[in-house]
Amino acid sequence: MSRQAEDELVEAAWSVLQNAYAPYSNFRVAAAVRGGSGRVYAGVNVENASYPVGLCAERSAIAAAVAGGESALTCVAIATDTENPVCPCGMCRQMIREFAEDLPIVLSARGDKRTRHTLAALLPESFSPADLDSDS
Ligand code: THU
Repeated sequence: MSRQAEDELVEAAWSVLQNAYAPYSNFRVAAAVRGGSGRVYAGVNVENASYPVGLCAERSAIAAAVAGGESALTCVAIATDTENPVCPCGMCRQMIREFAEDLPIVLSARGDKRTRHTLAALLPESFSPADLDSDS
């Protein structure tokens, strides 16, 4: 991915971070994903008084992408106002896996301190949609 494409995705995440609805944890997370079309979709975490109902930023962004007609993802960026970049939770890694065998995941913390990862490294030996067909 070009630096320009990465910057666009990271900026899309930062641009919605303040909209995160996190009154219980006070931990705001924003994510942006690029769909197969090249378009960018952003999302934030959305918490709930019934705590388990809360939604992570990554899955919120992916839902927007799917609503936009995307069926594949090519890159994910996550922004948090933390000292160090924060990795996606396990559930979100699996959600990303539904739409990409592997892709770059860029993490951005305060001051745009970045680390770069891949889904394959964060979710090795993953369960995938193809596994559902593996008995036939
Ligand atoms: N959170 C995310 O949005 N993404 C992650 O990958 C990890 C956690 C949110 C969920 C919850 O609203 C808050 O961060 C604290 O766990």
